[in-house]
Amino acid sequence: MAIVETAMKNFFLFLSQNKPLNQAAKKWGLRFGASRFVAGETIREAINKVRDLNNKGLVCTLDHLGEFVFSREEAIEAADYCVKTLEAIHEAGVDSNLSLKLTQIGLDIDLDLCRRNMHRILYTAKKYGNFVRIDMEDYGHCQQTLDLLKELRQEYDNVGTVIQAYLYRTEKDIEDLKGVSLRLVKGAYKESPEVAYPDKKDVDENYKKIIKKHLLNGSYTAIASHDDQIISYTKQLVKEYNIPRDQFEFQMLYGIRTQSQIELAQEGYKMRVYVPYGNDWYGYFMRRLAERPANVAFVLKGMVSK
Ligand code: FDA
Repeated sequence: MAIVETAMKNFFLFLSQNKPLNQAAKKWGLRFGASRFVAGETIREAINKVRDLNNKGLVCTLDHLGEFVFSREEAIEAADYCVKTLEAIHEAGVDSNLSLKLTQIGLDIDLDLCRRNMHRILYTAKKYGNFVRIDMEDYGHCQQTLDLLKELRQEYDNVGTVIQAYLYRTEKDIEDLKGVSLRLVKGAYKESPEVAYPDKKDVDENYKKIIKKHLLNGSYTAIASHDDQIISYTKQLVKEYNIPRDQFEFQMLYGIRTQSQIELAQEGYKMRVYVPYGNDWYGYFMRRLAERPANVAFVLKGMVSK
């Protein structure tokens, strides 16, 4: 069973990086059950979903999906979408911040272009009293992301990033990022054992270690996981060390463990839902399928019943 699961995981991660399929999917509309994980193709649809979630006691972070950005025009357009998303959040008066990926706004094209785009986005966010979280991508982009974050934080305090528990370097990064708002995750990309723990057990252990470290440092910590064991561990920890509720939040992805999301909010925890939207849903969707074979069964069932 473990072999089949690993093979499936690798297969979907491989598919997630397929550019022709990614390009084709943009013209398909939300297909194959992707609408379970993606809030819609337009900003209007996404804002409506955010409003529904807010009404259930959940706060959100909106992400305009985008991958394989190789031209300056596409990078500028993606940054425009980020600005428009911040404006739409403000105009609708919904409770959401913004998440983005640096490769979307030009990191692989020209660092300076990416930097200028980030300034534009952070300026808008600041104007509206909002916050921007830079998602962490594959290992190849990790150092550049942290370097740019450090630079941006000299001017803006409304920006943070994500740290992945599967990387060996993570414990050291957490030390360097004391005082920075961080989202802590297990890690979603396919990495070599040279840079990342191959065993889930080690990842989970390291995850607990960095959650404790960042919280006890007094830094704002977002624990982004659907894993009950990690959530229980965090609840215990904050109780034991009297960590105030406004120093941390839980985060989960749109469409995953929705009942648990509501329950955590009802228990009085801040619960933020990551709400992706846009027509570039393919890579994101494939990564969610890679995470859980049961999701593939869900998709297959959906295809048969249509
Ligand atoms: P794990 O994968 O161990 O799963 C634990 C349990 O959760 C499963 O047994 C299942 O019950 C449930 N579950 C998990 N995934 C599921 C799914 N897809 N569908 C249904 N149930 C599922 N990664 C990254 O590298 N960079 C980033 O910037 C981010 N950002 C991010 C934001 C948010 C809000 C979340 C929740 C996650 C991320 N991630 C991420 C992804 C993260 O690294 C990781 O891949 C997933 O969260 C899965 O790991 P879990 O901690 O949920 O546990």
